[in-house]
Amino acid sequence: MGTASRPVVIAGNWKMHMTCAEARSFASQFLPLVASTPGDRTIVLAPPFTALEAVRQAVVGSAVTLASQNVHWEGNGAFTGEISTRMLEEHGVAYAIVGHSEPRKYFSESDEQINLRARAAQAGGLIPILCVGESDEQRSSGDTERVIRRQVEQGFDGIDPARLVVAYEPIWAIGTGKTCAASEANRICGLIRSWVGHPDLTVQYGGSVKPDNIDEIMAQSDIDGVLVGGASLEAQSFARIVNYQPFPAA
Ligand code: PGA
Repeated sequence: MGTASRPVVIAGNWKMHMTCAEARSFASQFLPLVASTPGDRTIVLAPPFTALEAVRQAVVGSAVTLASQNVHWEGNGAFTGEISTRMLEEHGVAYAIVGHSEPRKYFSESDEQINLRARAAQAGGLIPILCVGESDEQRSSGDTERVIRRQVEQGFDGIDPARLVVAYEPIWAIGTGKTCAASEANRICGLIRSWVGHPDLTVQYGGSVKPDNIDEIMAQSDIDGVLVGGASLEAQSFARIVNYQPFPAA
């Protein structure tokens, strides 16, 4: 639920969705719906690189902040398909998602590479949104805590925790409609904060966040926001998530 020193960050990760025209249309529907959203939460959109500029122009004067979906550790060079902080800076990007389970899975990204990305993001003035999370198999075999602790230890080396957001994203909950029970997500988010050793660290939950579970998720004491995939693609649905109203946790 965030605290005075742990800002709430509600981020939409569009993944490989949205042309520039679609992004502009989303923005024109979304912005009026968040015009009176309380200022206690930061609203972040992570469009594909090609739509960053269209979104930047569309959200001028609003409370929406931009994130990139990845960032490379070099400023430039022979790295086909990659993007650097220098390039992102031109488009007003403030956050960079790193270590998402999709590049971890499809492109075999290692904790070491993720660490380099996160460090480069911070060195370039961006706040990394560093994702961690266990697979279905790892959870079933009782390895959840060990796996996440390793991701934290290896991925967070040399990172300034005061300029970091961590997203706890159990892989089995991403895009599956299976949400982690709010109390369990809360427990893991609290553990991550204690492993990082920074009481003011913002820890998000991600994995099938929807308008109908956001209020319960945001009522949890150790969850300071969400990283949303599918439900961030539709303006009404993402606006409902941004405009969450946490009810008191049982
Ligand atoms: P989802 O994706 O909300 O579609 O489950 C979450 C994510 O990948 O960050």
